Amino acid sequence: MGELDGKVAVVTGSASYIGTAIAARLVANGAQVVLADVDADNGRPAAAELGDAARFVETDLSDDKALDVLVETARREFGGIDILVNAAAVFLDDRLATSREDWHAAFDLNVISFAVLMGKVVPSMIERDGGSIINIASISGKQSQPGRVVYPVTKAAVLGLTRNAGQLLAGDGIRVNAVSPGWTWSRSLANRYGSRERGDELAAEFQPLGRLADPEEIADAVVFLAGDRSSFMTGADLAVDGGYAALGPEALGRAFERIPTID
Ligand SMILES: NC(=O)c1ccc[n+]([C@@H]2O[C@H](COP(=O)([O-])OP(=O)(O)OC[C@H]3O[C@@H](n4cnc5c(N)ncnc54)[C@H](O)[C@@H]3O)[C@@H](O)[C@H]2O)c1
Repeated sequence: MGELDGKVAVVTGSASYIGTAIAARLVANGAQVVLADVDADNGRPAAAELGDAARFVETDLSDDKALDVLVETARREFGGIDILVNAAAVFLDDRLATSREDWHAAFDLNVISFAVLMGKVVPSMIERDGGSIINIASISGKQSQPGRVVYPVTKAAVLGLTRNAGQLLAGDGIRVNAVSPGWTWSRSLANRYGSRERGDELAAEFQPLGRLADPEEIADAVVFLAGDRSSFMTGADLAVDGGYAALGPEALGRAFERIPTID
């Protein structure tokens, strides 16, 4: 028996390593899952690997009609929705030179699509006497990061959305929480660094546990928030960041070695 037996989940951004791992862990714990992403080349095979418990819906999350199709598919195929995981993101960021159009596009996907989809799944959750919504935020929503402005501000907004929706939906038995990953192995890091080893080496400078997170480590926190073990948590932000947010400005590695010791 899995802790999510009989539950139905929708996972957005499910073509990403993190999104696919979340869908897989939800299925492994007994849930049926609808995977949604605009990237069908990676999303469709990810869903196929999960067998009968999973469906893929090619979805542009900035299109409200596509969100209706997604919700309708979950109802038709699996009978309703108990769990929503908002995990899609765009990384548009030209710092303060970012065009108004790109600011709108980043907020539209990273924040507004989370909120609109939450609104669309709530009726089904109420019909099923409650639910759990998990928003993937980031360490970037809590600390500034070199070379970035737009993406971190959208992630800070995700944390605000989580707090406000958490209090708003508590009376309906719907809990809303965030997971804030640290640097995690992903398709974009694979493209940027070429190898997991190089990514781990760089992450070891600022994640005290000494490496990138595995996507499955983010997924395990999502499973916890999706199920009854987290029954008294709402509006919270669960850090899965290898200690990133706990670290002071000295950082680890080279910067730390440059600080004179007192003895
Ligand atoms: N990788 C990290 O280090 C890290 C750290 C903290 C938080 N996160 C968060 O984890 C999640 C996954 O990110 P990732 O790093 O794996 O990046 P990613 O680019 O691989 O994943 C983002 C996903 O969102 C999808 N997407 C983008 N626009 C869409 C649209 N209009 N409609 C539907 N889907 C769309 C993409 O196709 C992609 O599959 C994001 O929410 C990200 O902010 C990642």
